[in-house]
Amino acid sequence: MGISPLGVTFSVPYEIAAVRPLRQTTSAERDEALRAAHYNTELIPQELIYVDLSTDSGVSSISTNQLAVLTGANFAEPGMGLAAEGSRAFARLAGAVKSIFGFPFVIPVPQGRAAERIWAKLNVKPGSVVPGNMLFPSTRIHLEMNGASVIDVISDAAHDLKSEESFKGNLDLEKLRAATATHGAGKVGCIYVELGVNGCGGQPVSLANLKAVRAIAAAEKIPVFLDACRILENSFFIKEREAGYQNRTIREIVAETCAQADGCTMSALKDLLVPSGGLIMTRDEAAYRKAAMQCFLDGAQLSGGAMELLTAALEDIFAAESYISHRVGQVDYLWRRLNGGLPLVHPAGGHGVFIDVKVFLPHLKSENFPAEALAAFIYQIAGIRLTKGAPPAPSQSARGIELLRLAVPARKYLRGHLNDVAEALLYAHANRNDIRGFRRVEAPGRGKYDPAHFIPL
Ligand code: F0G
Repeated sequence: MGISPLGVTFSVPYEIAAVRPLRQTTSAERDEALRAAHYNTELIPQELIYVDLSTDSGVSSISTNQLAVLTGANFAEPGMGLAAEGSRAFARLAGAVKSIFGFPFVIPVPQGRAAERIWAKLNVKPGSVVPGNMLFPSTRIHLEMNGASVIDVISDAAHDLKSEESFKGNLDLEKLRAATATHGAGKVGCIYVELGVNGCGGQPVSLANLKAVRAIAAAEKIPVFLDACRILENSFFIKEREAGYQNRTIREIVAETCAQADGCTMSALKDLLVPSGGLIMTRDEAAYRKAAMQCFLDGAQLSGGAMELLTAALEDIFAAESYISHRVGQVDYLWRRLNGGLPLVHPAGGHGVFIDVKVFLPHLKSENFPAEALAAFIYQIAGIRLTKGAPPAPSQSARGIELLRLAVPARKYLRGHLNDVAEALLYAHANRNDIRGFRRVEAPGRGKYDPAHFIPL
């Protein structure tokens, strides 16, 4: 809260309208839960979790505006058939999406991964290359599954965990030019730019960088696609940090960001506050028609009710800028409570706080699963769930970087929860020498991609 002669600046842009009670577990119960979950916090049942920072995806609270959709007649709206244009729910969503993101053609899908799978299938040729900025594993894997080689051209600052660079998600333009020159523009299928880069700590991409990427791409006739699932945090940081944007609205920055791209895939589970939904957006009618047909064939269309919920969320988000400033502000608050005590990725990111595990637990070798061991320790003392989450990008593994993410779901937790998280982590740091590593145990019937089972060393 800030106060001036004009009155108070409100610090919270909502009040609680429905609550879910949280059970206070005992230390003995948490010991038992860890044993039963084979020391993997991913496998602990939800009812034994106090604060869940394993993801910010699909876990935000719904608003009263969304509740009215869920319990009202709009939730029973029919979805899309072969002709999406015939659906009222689609028409409402497409209208909102066009006016906010500026793409004339949109295809709603159930998740970001569905958008990536369909978009990559239509746009990626075997033997092509795709430069990107430390793309999320699902994006990278869909590009690779269609025969492309992904080249990571993110700035070196993204790998320097302590660097205070404002836009560590930026693409390195020299690396991008070199990739295009080495492979020949004809082989570069597209350039993929993730906003608010998850892998390196929720770090933003500047508009200046995006415009420079666009210019390089336009000269070679290469399309630019965005992974825009965290476009709000990215836009917030542009407004805060990039010269010339302080007096622009978030909505204007979102539109200007999208204007630099030919197309976009987006999970709506993060910034768009829904439990399911994703978007493919394009300026190319032929690509739109192909993608819409592919969604129809794949059974990857979004239900009418889910489209209405997404339209309501877009209204909530753009009703006032306090929503996004509070969302990023919560992450910033947790980061500040931990900074100084703990080795963190700098500066604070948009959707989570990232811990440098190697510096936190220098006595543990990487083959002893230090991130998982720290997560289990935190669960034991505080009932808080952290998980290892997505694997590091190849460019991080090559440098031996290992991070543990505290993903802060938007519109879910109170400052009290965040204070408890901070206390638990500061305690764990003070007692870090008590944290032992793990050994992975093979269990019959479980493959190498199933959540692992561990035993403490
Ligand atoms: N792109 C990014 C940057 C993501 O973080 C995610 C998901 C996706 C794409 C895929 O979207 O889950 O709707 O299929 N990230 C989640 C996370 C899982 O916890 O960060 P999805």
